[in-house]
Amino acid sequence: MHKVVRDFSKTVVVPPEGIRLAYEPEPKVRSKYRQEIEEVLITKGCLQARVEGLAKEIKEAFADINEITCLVVLKGGMFFAADLIRILDENSKLRTRLDFIRCSSYGDRASSSGEVTMYEFGDMEGDNILLIEDIIDSGKTLEELQSYLKSKGKQFKTCVLLDKGVAKHIKVDFIGFRIPRIFVGGYGLDYAGMFRGLPEIVVIKKELLK
Ligand code: PRP
Repeated sequence: MHKVVRDFSKTVVVPPEGIRLAYEPEPKVRSKYRQEIEEVLITKGCLQARVEGLAKEIKEAFADINEITCLVVLKGGMFFAADLIRILDENSKLRTRLDFIRCSSYGDRASSSGEVTMYEFGDMEGDNILLIEDIIDSGKTLEELQSYLKSKGKQFKTCVLLDKGVAKHIKVDFIGFRIPRIFVGGYGLDYAGMFRGLPEIVVIKKELLK
């Protein structure tokens, strides 16, 4: 049974059986993915509720400034960032700019290659930067990004949707959910390029992973 969560104002700790809202039915895996997906871990409703909670935290943390550059880490961060930035712009006095950086280290595998490849991004020199990332696992990607970006921004903060709690040495300002150490997909996250378009976070079957 999925745990019912009611408070989305701070980081939500997700148990292995998953979470849902009180009014959401017990979530089911879509039939087309039954061979590949074990279960739904975080429902669409919970994602939406926590993204709203994160927007509030961010708004308060940047209370003394008017403009931020939202730097989205591609590809995984795109759905999360799209939802977060729209709530921020709608509900705060913050004016937002949008920029992207492409990082990759997993390719088609379930564990990091250890080599983070970065591709092109705009000039953010002197901006107030909010780095938006989907997940922190080993922490290698964020470590490289943070060391590169911290000298560029006037203020620099990091927002991550999911944290597996492995990379304790990395400082993250805003964390959506703390999840178990399992391989997940959906809401922008992939395994071998698949599952990004799912509106929920799902657990990929272990036998599929290489
Ligand atoms: C994933 C994810 C993060 C990173 C986290 O990216 O989107 O950027 O791995 O892992 P780490 O903490 O172990 O570095 P991936 O390399 O799969 O690229 P993608 O976003 O294009 O899927």
